[in-house]
Amino acid sequence: MSVAATLPNATILDAYRAATPNSSAMARKARELLPSGIVHDSRNFDPYPIYVERAQGPVKWDVDGNRYVDYFGGHGALLLGHNHPQVMAAVHAQFDRGTHFGACHELEVRWAELICRMVPSAERVRFTSSGTEATLMALRLARAHTGRQKLLRVRGHFHGWHDHMTSGHANHFDGSPTTGVLGGVADAVLLVDPNDIAGLTRLFEQHRDIAAAIVEPTGSHFGRMPLKREFVAAMRDLTRASGTLLIFDEVVTGFRCSPGGAQQALGITPDMTALAKIVSGGLPGGAVAGPKVVLDLLDFAATKATGKEKIHHPGTFNANPLSAAAGVAALEIISTTDACARANAYGEALRREMNEVLEDEGVNWAVYGDYSGFHIFTNPENAHITPGKFDAAEFIPGMLTRKGADGMAGQLRMGLLVNGVDINSGPSGVISATHGAEEQAATVDAFRSTLRALRREGALS
Ligand SMILES: Cc1ncc(COP(=O)(O)O)c(C=O)c1O
Repeated sequence: MSVAATLPNATILDAYRAATPNSSAMARKARELLPSGIVHDSRNFDPYPIYVERAQGPVKWDVDGNRYVDYFGGHGALLLGHNHPQVMAAVHAQFDRGTHFGACHELEVRWAELICRMVPSAERVRFTSSGTEATLMALRLARAHTGRQKLLRVRGHFHGWHDHMTSGHANHFDGSPTTGVLGGVADAVLLVDPNDIAGLTRLFEQHRDIAAAIVEPTGSHFGRMPLKREFVAAMRDLTRASGTLLIFDEVVTGFRCSPGGAQQALGITPDMTALAKIVSGGLPGGAVAGPKVVLDLLDFAATKATGKEKIHHPGTFNANPLSAAAGVAALEIISTTDACARANAYGEALRREMNEVLEDEGVNWAVYGDYSGFHIFTNPENAHITPGKFDAAEFIPGMLTRKGADGMAGQLRMGLLVNGVDINSGPSGVISATHGAEEQAATVDAFRSTLRALRREGALS
């Protein structure tokens, strides 16, 4: 039963506290041990986050027994939902055979074969242990291949937390180094605003020595600030003309927008692709995919033949057998079923229904997004918008990436938690192929109840 039903007149915060005493106790202990009590910045939540005990398909349960429709989706890794039976069977079987052989194994070959078959830009693959490592390697490969130093990125886009890609993601939008990063590293990174084709063109005119341009192809945070296709196409044209390698960061969009990722959905093929999350079926892992001529910089024989310096690349858990087993099982399902299409269709229906709730309730927000994601624009500056017709790309990037000086994202998220739905702090959500009619109805109801509770509390006009 939802907390909202048991405590109809409580404030959202009171209801949250009443429903989650075990989470509260765990958070108290965690704060003694972990900075902010958390292990990933996105779990920072006032007054404390929920602690989850188990999950299945599209739902999860916290340590107090509360059930949630899950839109965190393993940070996007779980297109197939929690504990997909085929993925679990593959992992269990591998678990019994061994978790690390310190040796080559058959699954890594099968895994690479699937990636090369599914992802248009993939001719060779190198596995990593995370998306951060995948973008780091893609950028290093691009520098080594082109012999150039500079990198170009889009403001607000996230490519992991390594030194080259920290400035200009959440802050330091002027490109200055974030704390702990060397000035020289940040100096070599050029920033462009999303959808600013003129600015992009200028950067390519001014800088002839750009090794790589990297982009989240559907926009930052899975389209929270959407990119227009024309901008991505301009990136493709300008990089090709200037000998710069175009890298798609498909850590989120890969195997999600379509079995071949955003590049297949957009019909624009980059030179290299960074992959993680879905690629390893919900277990840790990542990969860089690209042309043989570039990935050959990791190849002993090829570099010996060309006289080039080989890029050294170890990594204890690269393509470890458990991740490989999960990845192979997940990619086989995605390549042979309509999993992406089902999740995309749910996304479209959910966004439409949530916008209908906004219109019914007279709330001046909008729910938008593409593919299997949704974003809630809480309109902190009360701009004139129509929920179902909101064109997020027309709004200035800053407006969307500011979470709302009114703190609405947190209140909304807590209200939804109290009503049995977990979204991320965007406020946004990612959808799995296991979300169905029941979850959709529950989400729409929870959204309506939350809006009414926010209004009762005076947080909404
Ligand atoms: C677009 C994008 N790139 C890179 C990363 C980093 O991946 P990881 O967390 O596996 O290091 C993420 C993680 O959320 C991401 O969303």
